[in-house]
Amino acid sequence: MPTAIVTGGSRGLGLALIRELSASGWRVVTDARDGHALADATRDLARVAVVPGDIADGRHRHALVEAATDTADRHIDAVVNNASLLGPSPQPHLADYPLDVLARVYAVNVIAPLGLVQAALPHLRVGGVIVNITSDVANESYPGWGGYASSKAALEHLTGTLAAERPDLRVYAADPGDLRTRMHQDAFPGEDISDRPLPAVAVPGLRRLLDGDLASGRYTAQDVGVPA
Ligand SMILES: NC(=O)c1ccc[n+]([C@@H]2O[C@H](COP(=O)([O-])OP(=O)(O)OC[C@H]3O[C@@H](n4cnc5c(N)ncnc54)[C@H](OP(=O)(O)O)[C@@H]3O)[C@@H](O)[C@H]2O)c1
Repeated sequence: MPTAIVTGGSRGLGLALIRELSASGWRVVTDARDGHALADATRDLARVAVVPGDIADGRHRHALVEAATDTADRHIDAVVNNASLLGPSPQPHLADYPLDVLARVYAVNVIAPLGLVQAALPHLRVGGVIVNITSDVANESYPGWGGYASSKAALEHLTGTLAAERPDLRVYAADPGDLRTRMHQDAFPGEDISDRPLPAVAVPGLRRLLDGDLASGRYTAQDVGVPA
């Protein structure tokens, strides 16, 4: 029974992914800051353990790894860094971006994913998988997106370096595409986002990264899921 840590499992893409993993026999450890929402969302899912907390907190990251390795062989097969912080909504231009908020965006979107990887690495199997959820904005420059987008650019750079340093693992940056979630609504306050697809549309691609043998690198989840 493979084991994954998937952060941010109480809603959106994280919840869609852990529903799929649970249904196909994976054991999943997940988190979110709101423990009640997390418990409600995962109550009916088999083999899903919840550890409420803030991924920016190092003790919480170690608690996630402890929960994931609470098995006879103490191994982890996959880490999916999904939890993320958009920052202020509406997003300010860089000239006005509060630096303390920017530091928090980087703490959640850059430092925390690497911290979780560092905590999990001693337990990752050879051939184990790291998926860092990124965004198309990592490679674009749009007014207002300088905080969140630069954090995703940094996450992508960490991902590429980790892939080069650890050829024994598969290390991916996965862009899920636009999805109808709370974060997306916060990014476009007051806008009707009902034309965006639900998060499940990105899940087949993430499954292919987790289960397949694709080379480490950056992938667009909604494309990688399309059968060749
Ligand atoms: N939606 C899109 O269009 C889109 C596009 C490109 C990339 N992405 C990426 O896709 C991923 C999922 O986004 P989403 O749209 O599904 O977001 P979402 O609906 O807002 O869900 C975010 C999840 O992460 C948790 N979370 C947030 N901050 C956390 C923290 N500090 N510690 C622990 N858990 C935390 C949230 O629960 P709590 O609030 O209770 O902590 C929630 O479970 C993110 O990496 C995002 O950047 C999304």
